[in-house]
Amino acid sequence: MATLPLAELPPPLGVSIRDFASISPKERPAVGDKVAKLERKIFPSSESFDYDIELKKKNIGVILAFKEFDSETLIAYLVYQRMKRIVWLHKLCVVESERQKGIGRCLIHALYRQMKSRGGESIQLWVDEHRKPARALYDSCGFQQVELRSDYYAAGRAGLKMQLSIVR
Ligand SMILES: CC(C)(COP(=O)(O)OP(=O)(O)OC[C@H]1O[C@@H](n2cnc3c(N)ncnc32)[C@H](O)[C@@H]1OP(=O)(O)O)[C@@H](O)C(=O)NCCC(=O)NCCS
Repeated sequence: MATLPLAELPPPLGVSIRDFASISPKERPAVGDKVAKLERKIFPSSESFDYDIELKKKNIGVILAFKEFDSETLIAYLVYQRMKRIVWLHKLCVVESERQKGIGRCLIHALYRQMKSRGGESIQLWVDEHRKPARALYDSCGFQQVELRSDYYAAGRAGLKMQLSIVR
């Protein structure tokens, strides 16, 4: 299984990373709305989560990226689900204007560090074979393809299963 090549990765300049769990219960609905809004903009409706439901589940986590000194402006998020020692990376999204600045990689690294400290064994995900930037990002983080399923997302849209082992 592949391993993450990076030891430490600070957020890119001007970006602050926060865990959804660290946000006060009062503020959570507004932040959840921002995640849902960004998701609707980036992903087809068939792939959108219902965050009113998802964010209440105990094993779902979200790591957020905001503009530094501007906690109102959400620029990226990563949604994951813990299943015993495996964590599924379900969603990763960076607003278009902030792409290719290292934010996606930084969110994956934040997830990796969290899972390492909690005894996780691997991060797994499915990605649409046509999502080239996402595949390049996962490759650059050390994920390896372990399975290909035709028509996984829709007719003609295969899914690739990728995984990254967490090294102790
Ligand atoms: C995929 C996505 C999250 C990447 O986020 P990002 O912040 O732009 O990625 P990073 O800047 O951290 O890129 C890290 C590495 O990924 C690769 N990469 C990222 N975007 C790339 C692109 N458009 N073309 C080629 N390689 C790319 C590069 O290897 C890059 O490393 P480098 O800059 O040192 O060359 C972003 O493009 C996105 O939100 N896309 C739409 C939603 C999506 O497809 N999500 C994933 C499926 S759930």
